[in-house]
Amino acid sequence: MVNETTRIFNSAIGASSIAAAFELGILDALQERDPLDVEAFSDRHELSVWSVGSILQVLHRFDIVGLSPDRKTATRGPEFADTFENKGYFLWLMRGYGNLLHNLATIVEEGNCTTEGIGRDGKYIAMAGRDYGAAFVDEHFTEVMNEEPFTVAADLGCGSAERLMGLARARPDFRGVGVEVNKGAVDLARRSIRQAGLEDRVQVVHFDVKNLTYQPEFEGVEVLFCFFMGHDLWPRPNCLKAFRSIRGAFPQLKRFLFSDTYRSDFPAPGQMPIFTLGFEFTHELMGQYIPSLSEWEELFDESGWVCNGRRDLSIPYSSIFDLRVGNGGADSSAT
Ligand SMILES: C[S@@+](CC[C@H](N)C(=O)[O-])C[C@H]1O[C@@H](n2cnc3c(N)ncnc32)[C@H](O)[C@@H]1O
Repeated sequence: MVNETTRIFNSAIGASSIAAAFELGILDALQERDPLDVEAFSDRHELSVWSVGSILQVLHRFDIVGLSPDRKTATRGPEFADTFENKGYFLWLMRGYGNLLHNLATIVEEGNCTTEGIGRDGKYIAMAGRDYGAAFVDEHFTEVMNEEPFTVAADLGCGSAERLMGLARARPDFRGVGVEVNKGAVDLARRSIRQAGLEDRVQVVHFDVKNLTYQPEFEGVEVLFCFFMGHDLWPRPNCLKAFRSIRGAFPQLKRFLFSDTYRSDFPAPGQMPIFTLGFEFTHELMGQYIPSLSEWEELFDESGWVCNGRRDLSIPYSSIFDLRVGNGGADSSAT
């Protein structure tokens, strides 16, 4: 057995290879066909067969793929299913935060630990969210949404807008609007919406939720949802203001489905689940506070939202909260 330091070194190469294999379509190809002809795959995607073989070789060392000695044939290894399910986290870390990982010392030295300074890549964060969302969130989201009838919905911090597009595909009368501050994510979302032919029913507005006010696109919105961006609204006074402004910005709102990852307060080292360390480290470095579960519950209450139910997700320390307009707190005049 190798020691912990050696394991960490090897893991860094494994993580990079998983992210690349996902992005290059190698993992999807293996999921579709097993065994995979490495040369045919490389030709089809105009990739160097040697480079693809090198990535597969690393994955082979972690039992994610099997590889024939001549590197011509790859198969799914014992760890493949688990890696395939979790691949979005690797893209999130290695691509979304790749610049930070590469330049960590320089960024700290130059005091550049801001969202812009670390060079977080919104496009890859959105692509990764789409993947781990499909694996760990979508089923719960659909079930919670379908508990009550609706035709018009909005998504705060919509990223790739995949959730809105999913609703539009499933419901011919559905109309949806996404709100997104990152230009890279807005462009990705609008491109995907166009490619899916859904532009007459799904729109994305480039807007900062911290200054939420009524927009004509918000007319008729009955259900609002907000997944994995709530922590971006902290510090607390800013988030409180944003949560209070929702009722005025969406006057016909019936439900607000809020979902986020909350602070773990660090489990013992050997029990740290996937994602948590990366999520808490990157945000901590940027000075971005991650609220605990009880801090969220207090904020719902103070901003005038009543929590009607909570569903835990299999993303570590993450839940969907079903919020309803309560009597106090919310600022209904913020139009
Ligand atoms: C982790 S991603 C989640 C994306 C998507 N909701 C999902 O579940 O896949 C958070 C998204 O919220 C966006 N965001 C963060 N702060 C925002 C703000 N103040 N206004 C609008 N969007 C914001 C980010 O640009 C990013 O696309």
